[in-house]
Amino acid sequence: MDKLTFTQPDDWHVHLREGDALSMTVRATARCFARAIVMPNLPRPVDNIIAANTYRKQILAALPNGHKFEPLMTLYLTENLKVNDIHNAQAAGIHGVKLYPRGATTGSGFGINNIEKIYPILEAMQQNFLPLLIHGEVTDETVDVFSREAVFIDKVLVPLIKRFPKLKIVLEHISTARAVEFILSTPKHVAATITAHHLLLTRNDLLVGGLRPHHYCLPIVKTEQDKRALIKAAISGNPKFFLGTDSAPHPRTSKENACCAAGIFTAHAAIELYAEVFDQAKALDKLEGFSSFFGPDFYGLPRNRKDITLQRAPWLVPASIPFQNTQLIPFRAGESVEWKIVT
Ligand code: DOR
Ligand code: ZN
Repeated sequence: MDKLTFTQPDDWHVHLREGDALSMTVRATARCFARAIVMPNLPRPVDNIIAANTYRKQILAALPNGHKFEPLMTLYLTENLKVNDIHNAQAAGIHGVKLYPRGATTGSGFGINNIEKIYPILEAMQQNFLPLLIHGEVTDETVDVFSREAVFIDKVLVPLIKRFPKLKIVLEHISTARAVEFILSTPKHVAATITAHHLLLTRNDLLVGGLRPHHYCLPIVKTEQDKRALIKAAISGNPKFFLGTDSAPHPRTSKENACCAAGIFTAHAAIELYAEVFDQAKALDKLEGFSSFFGPDFYGLPRNRKDITLQRAPWLVPASIPFQNTQLIPFRAGESVEWKIVT
C-alpha cells in the first residue's frame, strides 16, 4: 500500500510551550492533527482555569491563517490546584489534569511529592469523570532511571487505582513491556498513550557509538524487547492504547549541553513517523484506530470528520528548524522519513 486515506488524527499529549515558541509548535501540530491535549508544564504552571483560558487564547492566536486546530486544555496538578476548579473544569473546557511526580522530568518542579495531599482533588476528579494524565516515573534517587516507570506502576499506580477505582487515568508515554502488560490488566477507563519515538528508538540509539542528546527524553527509551511490546500494543487494535506524541521542543543549546534537557521534537513529522512504524509491522490498517478513534472515544469527544491522505514518498527532514530566535534539531534531522501528508 503506497497511499492511505483515513480520519484526521489528534495528538493526545503535546508540549506547545508559550510566547514566541508557539508560532513554530502550533503550526507543526496543526499541520496534521485536528486537536491536541496540551501539556500545562509551563515555567508558570497552568494550574487554574483562568490560566488555562489565557494559554488557550495564546495558542489560538498563534494559529496560521486558514488552519483549523482545537487545543484541548489541561491543568497542572500543583499544590495550589483548587477542588473547586475541578468541579468547574469540564464546563470551562478542561479535558484532563496532569500529575507530575516532583522532579520527574522537564517542568515538573511544581509537581507532587506526597500523593496523599492530593486525595481530595482525585476524589473530585473521579466524581466528575475528569481524566488524570500521569507522568509515571518515581523520583527516588536509589531507583535506576531505566526502572522508574515499572517501579511507579507497582508502588504508586496500583495503590492509586485501588483507592480510586473509578478514576479515569491515562498513563502517558509508556515506555516498557511492563507498562503494556499493566494496562492490559486494568479496566476500560485506564488507558495509555504511546509516542512515535518510543516506537522507534531503543537505548542503543541513545548510547551506542556516542551519546545522542536528541534521543534523550523521559521516560528514557528502553530495550528492544520493550520497544517490541509497545509496537505490539500500538498495532493491536486495543482501544486502551492511542497516539500521544509527547513532542517536546528544546533549543539546540539546551540539548547539546553538559546537562541535556529531556524532550524530543517530533511534531514536524508525527503522523508520518507513526505510519512508518505501522507499515514496518504490516499493520497500516490499524493506524486509524490508534491515531483517530481511540483517543476521542476515551475522552468522550466526537471523532473527526475530515480525512487526511498519506503517501509513501520519502522526504528529507531539515537539519534544523528556526525556534525562538535560535534553532531546534528535529527528530531524524538530515535523514529521511518514508511517508508524507498529501492533503
Ligand atoms: O522528555 C520529556 N520532555 N518528557 C517529559 O515528560 C516532559 C517533556 C518536556 O516538557 O520537555
Ligand atoms: Zn510530556
